[in-house]
Amino acid sequence: MSNDRNRELDARAREILTGNDRGGYTVPNGRVYPFQWNWDSAFVALGFATFDTDRAWREVETLFEAQWPDGFLPHIVFWKDDPGYFPGPDVWASGRTPPTSGITQPPVAASVVRALWDGVDQGAYLPRLEALFQKLMAWHRWFHDYRDPDKLGVVVAMHPWETGRDNSAEWDAPASAVDVSNVGEYQRRDTSHLDQSMRPTKLDYDRYLALVQFGRATGWNHAAITASNPFRVADVGMTMILLRANRDLLALAEALGRTAAADEIRGWLALAPKAGDYLWDEALGAYCSRDTITGKSCGALTSASFLNFYGGVREPARDKAMLDHAERIGREVGRLMPSLDPADPRFEPLRYWRGPVWAVVNYLVGTGFADAGHADLAERVRRDTGELIAATGFHEAYNPLNSAPSGGDDFSWTAAIWLHWANR
Ligand code: DGY
Repeated sequence: MSNDRNRELDARAREILTGNDRGGYTVPNGRVYPFQWNWDSAFVALGFATFDTDRAWREVETLFEAQWPDGFLPHIVFWKDDPGYFPGPDVWASGRTPPTSGITQPPVAASVVRALWDGVDQGAYLPRLEALFQKLMAWHRWFHDYRDPDKLGVVVAMHPWETGRDNSAEWDAPASAVDVSNVGEYQRRDTSHLDQSMRPTKLDYDRYLALVQFGRATGWNHAAITASNPFRVADVGMTMILLRANRDLLALAEALGRTAAADEIRGWLALAPKAGDYLWDEALGAYCSRDTITGKSCGALTSASFLNFYGGVREPARDKAMLDHAERIGREVGRLMPSLDPADPRFEPLRYWRGPVWAVVNYLVGTGFADAGHADLAERVRRDTGELIAATGFHEAYNPLNSAPSGGDDFSWTAAIWLHWANR
């Protein structure tokens, strides 16, 4: 790619971030997602950090302003209402100010804050780190208290939306147990902005809604939800992301001299081998999410399966099996890393999390490969991400077979990943 083209894309990426900035928080996309989303904001901070350090920190600080007293950090913060999205604050009925959803999202924030901290004048930013550290610690403790009831070292997701990979094939079997008979009528808004063939199905949405109604009926009591939610799946993505985030939080605890917190985090990290064993699917020869209600593996090789390297879950034979899968998939698609193995009969190259490539997941997968010493694969994932963006712009996701865009355009987190990583 020429330097001129690179500079042009850098400028466009900055324009998208500033255009989607609503004053202290950034919307993922103005039409489809008009509020603050948890993990989107964390990635967005990495993008802002390349040209506006204060604004980068502010993004994460604003997100944590919506933290609940028990440490829970919601997946959406409804700072202002917007009729263009469903389900909005009235449906969630969290009873909080600002209104929020009642589920969480992948905990990338601690890793982002560590990256921000590594790039600043640490004397000046120390008070801001101290304040964020307390909040991050409370959120991670919440995960360990509420989302790992059997102390397996995993994160048990209570809703497909929590995983961020809404309609992944991993959730098909576990979500089939969710009773949708009382969901009632509702009007989706996503399909008025986007092509239906790129979105989850009506059955997926019925299940999403039924799970929101279940949580709301408990008054968003997370202990009650953990005990009896009809969907309780140990998510390989959130588990690996939390493991990585715990390592980054430990580095911050050590930098701040927080010895008690550091010991607590080391206790969480000691569960990593147990988590790896629980999430290994011998038949698939891959890491995979597992339904904690039936004990069955979800039986799908997805882009999140490769996050074992990012999470630091290492075992030589399993590492080799994952690398073989990555090499094979790399030969089958034009661009890595499809969100579902193209050899899976459920693969759909344009439908959201059932095939398309997502820049943010590529960033995590590529970072994991690089950390584990697999430089060639890491570079392939990074280069593919950059070329997808350079070909058609900053979309939500991309078809791994022919690079065509999927979902919304002018996406904040795609712009952020370009600025932070893919444009190198
Ligand atoms: C949506 O509405 O599509 C979101 O992914 C929920 O977080």
